[in-house]
Amino acid sequence: MSTAALSEVLELFWHPVCTVEELRAAAPQPLGIQLLGQRLAVADLGEPGIGVVADRCIHRSTRLSVGWVDDGAFRCGYHGWRWDAAGRCVEIPSMPDGPIPPRACIPAYEAQLAYGLVWVRLDGSADTSLPACPAWDDTSMKVVAGTPYTWPVGAPRRVENFVDLAHFAWVHDGSLGRRDEPVPPLPRIRREAGELRFDYEPPDMATDQTALFGYSRYRMPVPLTVSIDFDLADGAHRNLWMTASPIDDGSCRTFWYVSRDDRHDEDDADHLAFQDLVLREDEPLVTNQDPPSLSLEPGFELSVRTDRVSIEYRRWLRELVTARASGPAEVAAAVAADRVVVEAPMEAR
Ligand code: FES
Ligand SMILES: [Fe+2]
Repeated sequence: MSTAALSEVLELFWHPVCTVEELRAAAPQPLGIQLLGQRLAVADLGEPGIGVVADRCIHRSTRLSVGWVDDGAFRCGYHGWRWDAAGRCVEIPSMPDGPIPPRACIPAYEAQLAYGLVWVRLDGSADTSLPACPAWDDTSMKVVAGTPYTWPVGAPRRVENFVDLAHFAWVHDGSLGRRDEPVPPLPRIRREAGELRFDYEPPDMATDQTALFGYSRYRMPVPLTVSIDFDLADGAHRNLWMTASPIDDGSCRTFWYVSRDDRHDEDDADHLAFQDLVLREDEPLVTNQDPPSLSLEPGFELSVRTDRVSIEYRRWLRELVTARASGPAEVAAAVAADRVVVEAPMEAR
């Protein structure tokens, strides 16, 4: 099961590629980004909405992201050809009377705005939807955006780290776990509504009031999102939401929010600081996984009973790859398939 096969699956899903603020800050220049190895130019074209096209003008291959938006289309900076949101050339300034060659088309992709992010889907042939971000529409929650970060590790590995219960005691000794309590609980895992869900009871320990810590309800909308609801000891609720956007097989950019229904008047930076601490603890380990891309080959790595969550996560990714081989529409069905796991059979490592 190759990383290329997994990439083909990921192309069927929506991924965030930038924040709305980043898009606005770049205007009138498009933003050049990379998703699943493909360079894209992204811009708010005004009336036509968000445009996403391959970041390569087929005239002489200059990147459209070094051009600008002009009259609802991408203007190439080199010879001024203009490209609309559907990827059709609509103007060649050196030939005002035409004709525009029929071949003058570049790939264009679907885009939508949600949660302050621009989402792109490279392949629309399966019926996939955006991952939920429940805190976003919950008026009791104050949603604070963390600064997106890029790590040299594949997106599935980045996500798997979030739901790896056995690393808390080691990597986050004192912040999220205790090294003297290295045995994590084995959660009952459900697949419901396209999400992997489980609950987690952290060990007894004193934490700062800005910590995202407490009885935790995990929701993982497949394939690359994690949302964790925390019930704090004092009755408050917090949420951590993240999505890893696959830049290529070996790197990803994570977009994330921390939300709270308490202490709205406090400095948001203090609440982001706890998560920053956790990220600094994770980074040296997660970005030193070799290879940086997640292998779905059984037996490539050695899983044990306490890896139950990642075993199930990998199983689901594997099922999506298998479904993709039967056709894109099968992937949507594989996302929707429900399942309850009490014991993870070890043959599916
Ligand atoms: S390279 Fe784009 S117009 Fe010539
Ligand atoms: Fe961690």
